[in-house]
Amino acid sequence: MKKKIMAVFGTRPEAIKMAPLLKALQAKENYELIITVTAQHREMLDQVMSLFKLKADYDLDIMRDRQTLSGLSARIIKKLDGILSQENPDLLLVHGDTSSTFIGALTAFYNQVDIAHIEAGLRTHNKYSPFPEEMNRQLTGVLADLNFAPTLRARKNLLLENTSESKIFVTGNTVIDALLSVVDKNYIFENELLKNFDYKNKKLILLTAHRRENLGQPMENIFKAVRDLTEQISNLEVIFPVHLNPVIRELSKKMLADNKQIHLIEPLDYLPFANLMARVDLVLTDSGGIQEEAPSLAKPVLVLRDTTERPEAVEAGTVIKIGTEYNDIYQQSLKLLTDSKEYNKYAAAVNPYGDGKAVKRIIQALDYHFNYSSKRPADFRCN
Ligand code: UD1
Ligand code: UDP
Repeated sequence: MKKKIMAVFGTRPEAIKMAPLLKALQAKENYELIITVTAQHREMLDQVMSLFKLKADYDLDIMRDRQTLSGLSARIIKKLDGILSQENPDLLLVHGDTSSTFIGALTAFYNQVDIAHIEAGLRTHNKYSPFPEEMNRQLTGVLADLNFAPTLRARKNLLLENTSESKIFVTGNTVIDALLSVVDKNYIFENELLKNFDYKNKKLILLTAHRRENLGQPMENIFKAVRDLTEQISNLEVIFPVHLNPVIRELSKKMLADNKQIHLIEPLDYLPFANLMARVDLVLTDSGGIQEEAPSLAKPVLVLRDTTERPEAVEAGTVIKIGTEYNDIYQQSLKLLTDSKEYNKYAAAVNPYGDGKAVKRIIQALDYHFNYSSKRPADFRCN
């Protein structure tokens, strides 16, 4: 008898990180996979679905312009409930810390469906940072029956919360599986700017910013620092694929659009984005996923956040948690871009988050859970 697994997700990063696992599950004979997208994101989700040739069985289509957390959560639970009770899967798969993740898990709990949580156990222990992701992830963890922790530290966090050891598998992060499948040193960009860019003679910063807790003054500080850096370094250019959140689009246009060294572009498809990341000098970001990807591409990262649930690369020395104060961002970027000794200190490739085999371990753990195999997979260890 096949086991029925339903994956529920809704945003760009969830789709990127789930894609390699979903493809692998589709190829297995002992599983029936049902894909339900909340479409908490619309265009940014569709890009990833199309790149990985994934098709949703159910599409809740809940995104609204400037959606609120309560509004989007209410729409997900209302639409997902009927689908879950009708399909009654053996397991629900969710990933990470978005509202689709937590509300997906909550709806599964109400339907008494078991839950597997991928990328479990990351913590800042600060309720409001990242907001609302820290609590989304903690609450999903409380509900989960299986926890796929990417690192030993994440496992430790779960154990400290009395999660049973038998429910935790250390798998590495599927983001590295995805990244390895798309980065290619001979990749040719379709985008004219990226195709013709003088990567050799120019300094290049890749900027991304979207966190809810950074909207307002923190984002203004970030944009001002970047603008002033281009005034200080004449061969510096900045590429900023602007998130589709209209609040960010308005502010970035107002503060950065008239600067010729700063290129505000549409969100990139994952394939060009990952390959661009492999070619830039420095990454400035408040993203979670990019903090995991850039270190394995040997790119120094300044994390534009006061907290991080991903301290492994900070400890490994490629990521600096710089925060959102103007002066800190400006000074540290300037130092990295003008002092090669300082730069080389941070530009080493490290892989604390995975080895590209997370999907394999997750499938082994599922096989073990469903008694298809009696062998528990060995934990991922980064060293
Ligand atoms: C969400 C997640 C966040 C994740 C981020 C990844 C929550 C609460 N937040 O934040 O954890 O890091 O996705 O990008 O789950 N929009 C579009 N088209 C899109 C996507 C977004 O127009 O394809 C606009 C809409 O106006 C939407 C707004 O962006 O209302 C915000 O989207 P939302 O998913 O609520 O928050 P994010 O900031 O994207
Ligand atoms: N990404 C992308 N195109 C972009 C910006 C980011 O494909 O224009 C990818 C990036 O490589 C990473 C993921 O999207 O895998 C991160 O998404 P985001 O920063 O929106 O969310 P977070 O990781 O913070 O939840």
